[in-house]
Amino acid sequence: MSMNLAPLSVAAVAATGRRYNPTAQALHWVSALLMFIVIPLAWVMVALPKDAASRETYYMLHKSVGLTILVIVAVRLAWRAAHPAPPSPSSLAPWEHAAGRLSHWLLYLILVGMPFSGYVMSAAGGHAVTFFGLFPLPGLPHNKAVSSDAHWVHVAIGQWAVYALIVLHLLATVWHVAVRRDAVLGRMLPPTEHDSV
Ligand code: HEM
Ligand code: HEM
Repeated sequence: MSMNLAPLSVAAVAATGRRYNPTAQALHWVSALLMFIVIPLAWVMVALPKDAASRETYYMLHKSVGLTILVIVAVRLAWRAAHPAPPSPSSLAPWEHAAGRLSHWLLYLILVGMPFSGYVMSAAGGHAVTFFGLFPLPGLPHNKAVSSDAHWVHVAIGQWAVYALIVLHLLATVWHVAVRRDAVLGRMLPPTEHDSV
């Protein structure tokens, strides 16, 4: 019995014995943190009365944090191209592999698509976009139709895709930690003394 178990557990360790490298982890957690900042900033800024003194500042902060996310995701995708994600644990069912891959690429799509559509909406709408007030971004020709298309992508569609995908991503983490009790969360965390990841 133990003779059978030994090779199995070695195989299990080998299969799960890969984590995201420290740079990929840092880029993941910094972008996650910024997402949890940029979204409440949007809620506050759109809820402020039109004549509120702080309105401009909230818009500037929302746009600037959003653009920071775009820069970070560009670095992240370049890093990922050179350092591919570790293979997912073989303990996962095929549907879990597929759901993970698909949802991760959709998350990357919103990490790129939201800042891009936000910039087009603002710039084509004739609003100045600055980076934390330090320097202006190049403008776009004023075009109401383009701006309102980008508004549709950002607010009517993108916003809900963001909420749905983040909720799904967090539920998936809870599922792996609490139900499957596997090593998936550990893949995005530094090694501990006792884990086998
Ligand atoms: C990952 C980055 C971003 C996320 C997740 C995000 C998210 C959101 C959300 C959820 C809203 C809707 C708020 C509501 O109606 O309750 C919003 C609105 C808005 N965002 Fe973003 N945003 C991002 C980046 C940007 C960028 C880079 C810009 C501009 C350069 C921008 C400009 C705007 C503007 C102007 C609105 C208000 C639209 C309106 O008046 O209806 N966003 N954003
Ligand atoms: C507290 C919040 C979060 C937790 C606990 C969390 C957890 C994780 C874990 C454990 C993984 C690795 C999955 C695997 O091994 O296959 C992962 C990957 C990923 N997460 Fe999160 N995450 C969080 C927030 C976010 C947010 C807000 C975003 C972006 C909107 C995000 C985007 C991603 C992406 C794109 C990947 C795939 C990484 C790759 O394969 O390149 N995460 N996350």
